[in-house]
Amino acid sequence: MKDKTVFVCQACGFRSPKWTGRCGGCAEWNTMIEEADEPVLAPAESLFPPTDPVLFGDILETSASRWPTGIGEFDRVLGGGTVAGSLVLVGGEPGIGKSTLLLQAARDTAARGETVLYVSGEESLEQVKIRGDRIGVAGGNLYLLAETNCERVIAQAEKLQPQVLVIDSVQTVFSSKMTSSPGTISQVREVAQQVFRFAKTRRVPAFLVGHITKDGSLAGPKSLEHLVDVVLLFEGERDHSHRILRALKNRFGPVSELAVFEMTSSGLRPVDNPSAFFLKERPKDEPGSAVVCTIKGARPLLAEIQALVSSSVFSGNPRRMTVGLDPQRTAMLLALLEKKLGYGFASEDIYLNVAGGMSVDETAADLAAIMAVVSSLRNRALPRDTAFFGEVGLSGEIRSVSQALSRVQEARALGFGTVMLPEGNLEALNEDVRAGIRCLGVRTVRQALQEMF
Ligand code: TYD
Ligand code: MG
Repeated sequence: MKDKTVFVCQACGFRSPKWTGRCGGCAEWNTMIEEADEPVLAPAESLFPPTDPVLFGDILETSASRWPTGIGEFDRVLGGGTVAGSLVLVGGEPGIGKSTLLLQAARDTAARGETVLYVSGEESLEQVKIRGDRIGVAGGNLYLLAETNCERVIAQAEKLQPQVLVIDSVQTVFSSKMTSSPGTISQVREVAQQVFRFAKTRRVPAFLVGHITKDGSLAGPKSLEHLVDVVLLFEGERDHSHRILRALKNRFGPVSELAVFEMTSSGLRPVDNPSAFFLKERPKDEPGSAVVCTIKGARPLLAEIQALVSSSVFSGNPRRMTVGLDPQRTAMLLALLEKKLGYGFASEDIYLNVAGGMSVDETAADLAAIMAVVSSLRNRALPRDTAFFGEVGLSGEIRSVSQALSRVQEARALGFGTVMLPEGNLEALNEDVRAGIRCLGVRTVRQALQEMF
């Protein structure tokens, strides 16, 4: 029956016959939308031609099955380019630069002589052309199609047989097999499944652009995460020019690999040295600023942790705010400073921030966070050429962390004169590295603070 309806959570796909304010599946509020009651379609036919089982050792993984997009940083996040037959979801807030990124990738792929089909369901061909002129699309075998009907998109793709397919965006394209409106979860899933089938049967990489909501969840696209092979997130602050591309899921490569781009007047420019980029605007001799050697994905990155300790107007209930750092972990470090080292924060508000919209989510940032807080509290700047890393334990001990060598090397490469690190990490550093930078091993927070203040 066509006119029967059901309420579907747009975040997780949970279905309910009645409207509820809160989803019974994922407990999100206000996500239940009325949709036509359509069965969730399973792929009708097998995605692979019929074969007998093959011996593991007989399977060849050829490098030819990787397709570089041509944008080095993008390829790195993908794990060395896309894989033939893979479906990649690129999520991000509206206006962050998803269309720009994919058009640039399409530009570079087409410039190599490959055929690319870029389907725009949001903008007219003229609008895409204006963007293309801005980023310097030379032409080549880049085909554009303004189309929102999924069956027609697939028919055109079957006709053109492109080597790469881009759909911008999954929310604007709809299948005429379904009666729900475009962008609803049933539509988004059906469209993704059709593109998935095309990618697998024709062995071409396909990219789906997905808009995400302000709160950062891949609403709608969230329900695609299990279907697609790779999920990338493109994020950044509106008022900053830099954008960060991360892998959240990757069937063919490492996750949490990260690339930094800068949005310029002629498109996105890869940032070759993210550490220098994030430290560019670091203030001179300002209390409350500490540089951390962190690891993002597979590579080291220096970031600035900023702290502001100021006397609270809410006596008895001071504020604790963190941006880019784990609030629970921060609360623990503050408790440690109070209990073990005699600092009093009872009437102080404490704000912690990672500069440039970065986030640091590893325990190796503990030492730098503590340094930033104490520096602000005592109103004394840390030495400008010193960087920090190390995990802090609950007895105030400083524990070793992984990849000490590449952290130290990154600090040295950026001209830091000293790095303060867990004593237990010292032995992993060879003479070569130590010759170029002073490595100050510390065993306790107390000792670390004595060295610095
Ligand atoms: P866009 O790729 O359209 O974002 P999305 O597809 O994620 O919605 O990019 C939108 C923003 O980027 C827009 O505000 C204009 C800006 N922009 C530049 O600054 N320089 C450029 O060369 C281009 C193409 C866009
Ligand atoms: Mg767009």
